[in-house]
Amino acid sequence: MGFHTYPIERADALEDSWRYEFCSVEELLALFDPSPTDTVADLGSGTGFYTDDVAPYVEAVYAVDVQEAMGEYYREKGLPENVSTITAEIADLPFEENALDTAFSTMTYHEFADDPALSELARVLRPGGTVGIVDWSAAGTGEDGPALDERFDVERAVSDLEAHGFEVTSANARRETFVLAGRL
Ligand SMILES: C[S@@+](CC[C@H](N)C(=O)[O-])C[C@H]1O[C@@H](n2cnc3c(N)ncnc32)[C@H](O)[C@@H]1O
Repeated sequence: MGFHTYPIERADALEDSWRYEFCSVEELLALFDPSPTDTVADLGSGTGFYTDDVAPYVEAVYAVDVQEAMGEYYREKGLPENVSTITAEIADLPFEENALDTAFSTMTYHEFADDPALSELARVLRPGGTVGIVDWSAAGTGEDGPALDERFDVERAVSDLEAHGFEVTSANARRETFVLAGRL
């Protein structure tokens, strides 16, 4: 199992609103249709840029990142009162079985989505729980984001999630990214 890290000295770039060009708040929320009673995890939350956007719509959000420095950055920025930072690898989450109603991830799926991580996600999400994924696409232009050969295309993401028991309810490739919604 492995993970990529993001250079902490470039963390300010994750806070730049140009990022909404690739994923808006509206489309992210639409992927999992949050409820005010939901317990949610942001997988690979970084500085909490999108965590902040989801927090007002749910009961609680766990901002999960393998880099402790990202949690520190987010805490210094200021956590919404219903957000907790957790330093953990997605393949080894400190949650009970069925603990989460939803998990979402922005621009990070390609960094963690191996068999142990997807198995762990299936363990901690409750039956009927939802996932929302937005990530750079291997079928994109490569003008922005990580190198094309580091990314998955949407077909690969769909088949990997289905292989771990998820039903994919929508999946769309765009110019540079893909968006995917699913449930257990
Ligand atoms: C490109 S940043 C994106 C952060 C955030 N999702 C956003 O859109 O602003 C990816 C983050 O995922 C974290 N990450 C990568 N692999 C991970 C893993 N296996 N488990 C937990 N965090 C991981 C990195 O430490 C990094 O902070």
